[in-house]
Amino acid sequence: MQKESDAGLRWLATCCAGLLVVLLALPATGRELPIAPAQAAIASAHPLATRAGREILLEGGNAFDAAVAVAAALAVVEPYSSGIGGGGFFLLHRAADAHEVMLDAREKAPGAATRNMYLDEAGNVIPGLSLNGPLAAAIPGLPAGLVLLSEKYGRLPLARALAPAISYARKGFEVSERYRLMAKVRLDALRKDPTTAGIFLAAGEPPASGVTLRQPALAETLESLAAAGKAGFYAGPLATRLVNGVRAAGGIWTLADLAAYTVVERAPLVGSFQGIRVVSAPPPSSGGVALLEALNQLEPHDLITLPQLTRTHLTIEAMRRAYRDRAEYLGDPDFVDIPVAKLISKAHAKEVSANLSLTAATPSTSLRPIAPPAQGDHTTHLSVLDAEGNRVAATLSINYPFGAAFTPPGTGVLLNDEMDDFSAKPNAPNGYGLVGVEANAIAPGKRPLSSMTPTFVETPQRVGILGTPGGSRIISMVLLGVLAYSNGLPPADWVATARFHHQYLPDEVLYEPAAFGPDLQAALGKLGHKLTRADRDYGNMQAILWDRDQQAVSAAADPRGEGTAEVFSVVPR
Ligand code: DON
Repeated sequence: MQKESDAGLRWLATCCAGLLVVLLALPATGRELPIAPAQAAIASAHPLATRAGREILLEGGNAFDAAVAVAAALAVVEPYSSGIGGGGFFLLHRAADAHEVMLDAREKAPGAATRNMYLDEAGNVIPGLSLNGPLAAAIPGLPAGLVLLSEKYGRLPLARALAPAISYARKGFEVSERYRLMAKVRLDALRKDPTTAGIFLAAGEPPASGVTLRQPALAETLESLAAAGKAGFYAGPLATRLVNGVRAAGGIWTLADLAAYTVVERAPLVGSFQGIRVVSAPPPSSGGVALLEALNQLEPHDLITLPQLTRTHLTIEAMRRAYRDRAEYLGDPDFVDIPVAKLISKAHAKEVSANLSLTAATPSTSLRPIAPPAQGDHTTHLSVLDAEGNRVAATLSINYPFGAAFTPPGTGVLLNDEMDDFSAKPNAPNGYGLVGVEANAIAPGKRPLSSMTPTFVETPQRVGILGTPGGSRIISMVLLGVLAYSNGLPPADWVATARFHHQYLPDEVLYEPAAFGPDLQAALGKLGHKLTRADRDYGNMQAILWDRDQQAVSAAADPRGEGTAEVFSVVPR
């Protein structure tokens, strides 16, 4: 445990910066604002993960170390949502120099992947092949993401940040009702692989609530990563076990695929909405593009003063048009050219809004035709702010609950089924009944298109950090969260707000029961919107607000999930 005295000194420096407010920012109002929040905050989808991050911040780690700890802990205690067999995006803001970057730790298709690998001889999609078992798994990105985040941006050793996760894996965590629900959803797939069933089920059934679930093999894998960094996962004995396990069960991974995996540092997308600076995920996420395109369409309207019907109608129409473009243009930027600057321009928003009617829904079929995007349904998000003002918004995934439900023996690594985020065949629906197009076709080494939308929103007075899981609904949820922020509401409202969603096709508005009362439903119906009530509430948003004006930090975990948000002062140990 090195660097402890350093950490104390750094804390002192941070504290002085925060308390003395020596360096000041001057907003348009002319009021002086602190450059650091002095308090820290973490919001994550599981109490043990939030606790892990807090432990690291209290030891002198920064937000990046804490994000490593939270992400690694989630990989253990929320195995159905994310994991080191998966990947994701880390959006970072470094306070010292305002450096902003997105670590793209998205999984990559193995080298032997082929365009038609999920089709039978007649050219039909073979059900389940891109969802269950080793053929569904792309090469994981999270381990490399954690290593880069720690080594380049953190200040504590990687082993320290991974320690809470290792302990949760070895000593176990308590199975919750949420865990049981996810295990029930994926029970058939989990039962098929004896190694996976041995870890995540009890005698072939979801373990009882409160039972302690231990993952000793995962603890060893995390220790290998902690000791050897990237090589501890992507090379050596662990890599061999991963590849042997995958290939013995019919998968196509090679050692060369693992050795070739690299995280890409990408410039985030930056846009504006009514004076708010919006920073979000670039491709291979579709999130930032679609979010900014929707916000640009809404910008000319004074949403707060409009009647709820008009406001809701406009928001639905903005979603429809943004998701349409997402479907046509987006894929892995290392493989396809994407007209990002055009799509997120104000001029483009004006163009796509030209046929907008305030008195009638625009049928999706009347827009220039294109197939809709692929999506998924279980993932996680974490938000971190440290007392210096460093920020992380990270959305991490293994796609379906419990990913591919396949664990190479002796590794404890539950593999993702992110290959299903590719379009297996133009217009053939994926696991969620949706289809995709050429830009998102399978190719060796390509990253599947994602909807994950880790986002920062910022005015001189108010800095927000947010994101959520939820497949293609992620983008509409983050949009509603940004609108709640723009209305001056606190994070508790961003995460709790009742949700509605339109994704171009199918041409329907999905809504949580609390989103639309009977009158609004009737009025939207009259405008021509087809309303479909969601069978359950959705999303699991984690959000933080640093109000520089009020010198206050607040945070909130989505009430739909079991996560926790904490705000605390960082005092030296
Ligand atoms: O990257 C994506 O867009 C999907 N794999 C995310 C899946 C997801 O959010 C599931 N959430 N509940």
